[in-house]
Amino acid sequence: MAAMALLCALLHSLFLLLLAFDAQEDPVGLTSSCPTARFGSLCTSFDPANLDVNPDDIQDSIDKLATFSDTPAPSVTRILYTDNDVAARSFIRELMESAQLTVREDAIGNIFGRWEGSEPSQGVVASGSHTDAIPYAGKYDGVVGVVGAVEAIKALRRAGFQPKRSLEAIMFTSEEPTRFGLSCIGSRVMAGDPRVAVSLANAVDEDNVTFTLAANRAGYDEAGDNLQSVAVGNETYAAFVELHIEQGPLLEEQGVSIGIVTAIAGPASLGVEFAGGGGHAGAVLMHLRNDAGLAAAELALAVERHVLESGSQDTVGTTGTVKLYPGAINSIPRNAQLGIDIRDIDGSRRDAVVERVRATAHEIAARRGVVLQNFTVVNQDPPAQSTDFVIEALKEASEELGLGHKMMISRAYHDSLFMARIAPTAMIFIPCYRGYSHRPDEHATLEDMANGVRVLALTLSKLSSNWQAPLE
Ligand code: GLV
Ligand code: MN
Ligand code: MN
Repeated sequence: MAAMALLCALLHSLFLLLLAFDAQEDPVGLTSSCPTARFGSLCTSFDPANLDVNPDDIQDSIDKLATFSDTPAPSVTRILYTDNDVAARSFIRELMESAQLTVREDAIGNIFGRWEGSEPSQGVVASGSHTDAIPYAGKYDGVVGVVGAVEAIKALRRAGFQPKRSLEAIMFTSEEPTRFGLSCIGSRVMAGDPRVAVSLANAVDEDNVTFTLAANRAGYDEAGDNLQSVAVGNETYAAFVELHIEQGPLLEEQGVSIGIVTAIAGPASLGVEFAGGGGHAGAVLMHLRNDAGLAAAELALAVERHVLESGSQDTVGTTGTVKLYPGAINSIPRNAQLGIDIRDIDGSRRDAVVERVRATAHEIAARRGVVLQNFTVVNQDPPAQSTDFVIEALKEASEELGLGHKMMISRAYHDSLFMARIAPTAMIFIPCYRGYSHRPDEHATLEDMANGVRVLALTLSKLSSNWQAPLE
């Protein structure tokens, strides 16, 4: 009888052991905390109720970063490899270290803070954005996504989560094109764009400082010779999610907490230069002039005209910089340089506008007797599509947290445009005041930032826990 009881007890224990083993091996993780899951493989055993995000910490970091600025508050100006950019980088490294992340920096200053998972060979699940800021910008663009990624990881740690795939927070170098005319330098090089090395090798800022020299001065000694070491292959990242303010008015207007980005419009940047005769503003008669400034003015208007001719509100164009030389009120402009930005969610429609602008630039030059000295397409990037299973994880996370969400496109570009080339990618948008961005009164509330970080944390936990290929 006793032997029988012992045998029963042994069989029972074996049964329990098998059950436990099965649960551990179950990548689908069909746990009760995942009631809304449509893609079983995206479930995680993590309980969203335990997610404790600290919005005051997020705001403190944003406010601190805003002090590293070349212009007075409330504006923020933080240009690549300047002293303030270098100071912001130190701050981010310290923030990552204080979150117990293992910090690494590549040859051009992309900064990575990693929390090693139990299955590191299954690829990294990453989140991040940028901290550089165009002249007279606000303090939330990009910064929310870097500080938010660190806070999301901290919240997961506090909640007792254990990652299977490693989690990583990233600060990308120079998403803004301000200094060298090229956007998303960090993520572009990471994605292995072969043309970027040539562009950077030839790039100079307005003081004629080369990209390599600027990087060296900021402490990146290998930026010139070791660009290829920055590229990561398609195998490194299992998923990438970027948190960002919307930079548009829709979420705020419609009272929706979370935007899930399904596609990012493709940007093209043009550098154009006209050279004319110049001369004395009083002495040269009007019919004898070859005014490079007027050629530039005409081209700026033509950009607007060609964009409107596309007939879609998704086509937009901006002549954001015009420089006239020698730049004296009593001198006819001898040389004019324009920076033109044209974007569309439809790449070929955008390219058609670029070609019309090119043809018009030639026509203006011929008619005005000036030389079209330069018409460079600095970049002409295809739009990016988000990946279904990452979108699905974001939807599930929003629903499990009881937050309203909306599918939307991004008209602004982001580092995600390039991360999407090497990783399954999607973005979270949060509302910002009146949709304002790239201006000092850019603002996001504590509540909206906390909501975005909660969705981010839960999504990262799902993507980290699913260590088999997702169901498509
Ligand atoms: C990013 O800053 C953009 O211009 O879209
Ligand atoms: Mn920006
Ligand atoms: Mn941004």
